[in-house]
Amino acid sequence: MKAVALTRYLPINDPQSLFDVELPKPAAKGHDLLVRVEAISVNPVDTKVRSPKAKVESAPKVLGWDAAGVVEAVGEEVTRFKPGDEVYYAGDLTRAGSNAQFQLVDQRITGRKPRSLSFAQAAALPLTTITAWEALFERLRIDQQGGHRNRTLLIISGAGGVGSIGIQLAKLAGLKVIATASRPETKKWVHDLGADHVVDHRQPLPAQLKALGFAGVDFIANFNNTDAYWRVMAELIRPQGGIVAIVENDGPLELGLLKSKSATFAWEFMFTRAMFQTPDMAKQSELLNETAALVDAGKIRTTLTETLSPINAANLRAAHARLESGRTIGKLVLAGW
Ligand SMILES: NC(=O)c1ccc[n+]([C@@H]2O[C@H](COP(=O)([O-])OP(=O)(O)OC[C@H]3O[C@@H](n4cnc5c(N)ncnc54)[C@H](OP(=O)(O)O)[C@@H]3O)[C@@H](O)[C@H]2O)c1
Repeated sequence: MKAVALTRYLPINDPQSLFDVELPKPAAKGHDLLVRVEAISVNPVDTKVRSPKAKVESAPKVLGWDAAGVVEAVGEEVTRFKPGDEVYYAGDLTRAGSNAQFQLVDQRITGRKPRSLSFAQAAALPLTTITAWEALFERLRIDQQGGHRNRTLLIISGAGGVGSIGIQLAKLAGLKVIATASRPETKKWVHDLGADHVVDHRQPLPAQLKALGFAGVDFIANFNNTDAYWRVMAELIRPQGGIVAIVENDGPLELGLLKSKSATFAWEFMFTRAMFQTPDMAKQSELLNETAALVDAGKIRTTLTETLSPINAANLRAAHARLESGRTIGKLVLAGW
């Protein structure tokens, strides 16, 4: 099968940083589906894993954790899917990724692809949807059914992959969403996705929120640098509010800043369930299925903004370079072999 892989960890302008390779087609056992990959999406985790370092792999390593495709074969314990089913999933960071014509993925972290979307449109969604869903509805415990209607949520980095789906999920739960974006095109994008207010993360946030009439917010979902926003989050969170972060910190985080407000802080890492094989890992299959139903009902739209074709090393290197700029809007997808 065709795949894009690396053995050395090189800057993305090096043609060897990601190269085309032929690999053996894997076989499905246990809970695994063998999926014929039709489209993939790129995420900052790909560029973080690929980032230059001295390590050398003895065999080609396939990255990529976002895909849509068709089930080709199933393991003996599979009950949720059958060959021919169209699926979408992010997969497991500890296993071979989706930048290959065929991939093994556990049925418990796989969802049925939204019928109304193309493979490319569907591949834009899984990793970021799982992240935003778990961040809002599980870590912050926001009530999906509207129990927190009109409570305020600040989304830091509204136009990125995670923010673009996070805004939509939060609006469905009835929250008042203040999203950050810094450029005219990203400000327009987050407005179009449903954000009630847009503030600029290149300018001090408290003064902008105050000008909008918010002394503080009930929830904060930080989809950008945790260290950089720590102090301002502690300042903006309302007493008894909740903060969730998804980006690993570089320095110590001063948890004490939240004490007098009894504010809660939670991490979200969307690979936790697969990585630790938690007993509830099938919740990811279920949330992807629920998202597919919301998409097919016209309540959520794909966050795809650009498709490169075909899936090969040259296009994947171009996609990584774009992501590394930190300026992509929504999701960049590669489709077709
Ligand atoms: N823990 C997890 O499970 C998990 C899951 C997914 C992602 N992540 C991490 O979360 C981060 C975001 O992922 P993503 O896919 O949303 O990234 P992305 O799509 O690359 O985000 C791009 C957006 O970031 C915004 N941005 C750039 N600089 C910013 C700043 N200083 N403050 C706020 N926003 C800024 C830009 O908006 P403007 O152009 O308007 O400036 C741009 O639209 C990455 O570090 C990723 O690795 C973690």
